[in-house]
Amino acid sequence: MAEEDKKDKELRSSEWFNRTGKDGFIYRAWMKKQGIPKHKFKGKPVIGICNTWSELTPCNSHFRDLAQSVREGIIEAGGFPVEFPVMSLGETLMKPTAMLYRNLASMDTEESIRANPLDGVVLLCGCDKTTPSLVMGACSVDIPTIVVSGGPMLTGKFRGKDVSISDTWRFSDKVKTGEMSTERMEEAEACTCRSDGHCAVMGTASTMACMVESLGLSLPGNAAIPAPDARRKVIAHMSGMRAVEMVEEEQNLSDILTREAFENAIKVNTAIGGSTNFVIHLLAIAGRIGVDLDIDDFDKLSQDIPLIVNLQPSGDYFMEDFYYAGGLPAVIKELLPELHTNEITAAGESMQEIYKDAPNYNEEIISSRDKPFKSEVGLAIVKGNLSENGAVMKPSAATPELLQHKGRAVVFEDIEDYKARINDPDLDVKKDDILVLKNVGPKGYPGMPEVGNMGLPAKLLEQGVTDMVRISDGRMSGTAFGTAVLHTSPESADGGTLALVKNGDIIELDVPNRKIELHVSDEELEKRKKEWEPLPFHMDRGYWYLYQKHVQQAHLGADLDFMQGKSGSTVKRDSH
Ligand code: FES
Ligand code: MG
Repeated sequence: MAEEDKKDKELRSSEWFNRTGKDGFIYRAWMKKQGIPKHKFKGKPVIGICNTWSELTPCNSHFRDLAQSVREGIIEAGGFPVEFPVMSLGETLMKPTAMLYRNLASMDTEESIRANPLDGVVLLCGCDKTTPSLVMGACSVDIPTIVVSGGPMLTGKFRGKDVSISDTWRFSDKVKTGEMSTERMEEAEACTCRSDGHCAVMGTASTMACMVESLGLSLPGNAAIPAPDARRKVIAHMSGMRAVEMVEEEQNLSDILTREAFENAIKVNTAIGGSTNFVIHLLAIAGRIGVDLDIDDFDKLSQDIPLIVNLQPSGDYFMEDFYYAGGLPAVIKELLPELHTNEITAAGESMQEIYKDAPNYNEEIISSRDKPFKSEVGLAIVKGNLSENGAVMKPSAATPELLQHKGRAVVFEDIEDYKARINDPDLDVKKDDILVLKNVGPKGYPGMPEVGNMGLPAKLLEQGVTDMVRISDGRMSGTAFGTAVLHTSPESADGGTLALVKNGDIIELDVPNRKIELHVSDEELEKRKKEWEPLPFHMDRGYWYLYQKHVQQAHLGADLDFMQGKSGSTVKRDSH
């Protein structure tokens, strides 16, 4: 067999393009209407560019340009690029929450890859959910895959000050207390989001970009290059080239995503002060690729890793500064003694080979393990009768004095109840109380929105209170901060103890000992449980129905129960 034919035979796409007769005609003829010459169908790895471009996902609105750079890289390396869209999830516009659709977008991604003649795929990810959904979907097919992130926005500039999306929460508190006018807040909008890219702090999008790099799913440096920086296009081009090589090397996703790679990602996330959403997305990805990972691993593996990156919301700086300081490579280099260094990455080399000489240009932003920026751990999992399966919190973004705290519960039954009463001057609430918000979990909302860092009562803000313990089964934006206990599992809508909390109950949070207890007797809880009735489904048809029926609890990653594992890349039957 000629060398070219041999290669052709081995390619997955040859099941479509290297056919004769009716099938070959159908698979090629319509592609040819796009101006593709005959020789392109012979022996060239077909690389999908999976694009989440959308004007409804503003963080990804520059992805047409980015896809062009990937395309040029694929062509340069001898591949055949084909760009295709999948459902794009914009964090800021989608109601009731983009998280509701993460699993749906992952199904779109999975089926789009499997059903088409793709030998490899480049995933274009940006805004929060676009990364986990695409990676989850690709895992379930398991062909050679590389991620290109869209990159963070430039740092916002507002009236002479650096600002970011993390200031949204501060601005809105200031408007509540009358320190800032509504007009001034509106002026800040355009100053905060002033360039292409995703949120400019270590929020969830940046956390996800760091996650893919630390898992080994992207080229080094991918996590932090700002979206408008020319080097973002360069890494997109190089990733396109690399995707072609990965097909030639038969490097599938599961070759990269080992248990060790997940352990590395957890440690790196701790060092960067990544978003609490990291937990839920990494668990879901592990579930798809078939790696055994559980919520306690996050606590165990992060024990000895300090926070070494000084970025908002845990610190002071922005993603742009992080990139100039050396970016994620400098962090990984500092952590190498703690990591599994032989893990192979999408770059084709090991973690050790890639990161051993990474420079750090600014120790104020990226510190060392010996002299860390903060010694509070980045993530803690607390358990107790209020959260038997665990709840997540971020000590590095919390108030240290509140990490051990006992207080009276002020309970809101759902988000409407919270909105109706939180700013009521007659609300019975004091600064040492604990705010409890129910029914904002995966089933309860549905989709587990980012409301867990619920705003404080206006009357306490006026007294100068800046933080309180807040407990819910919802999530918190990665850009947010505060002493928020999140992802409580089982959730209230699933009959968790959270559903049984009443006004005035005493709750004890003890983060150093990883505990959260509701001080109510078992007998009384048993009694309340008997009186508890589940809420009806939000909808009795469509995706919402499917989601509520099948979504798993947060401690398992909130994936759909029937989506666990992978179905591989083989499709036996033809279309005509
Ligand atoms: Fe898209 Fe923050 S809203 S990354
Ligand atoms: Mg977010």
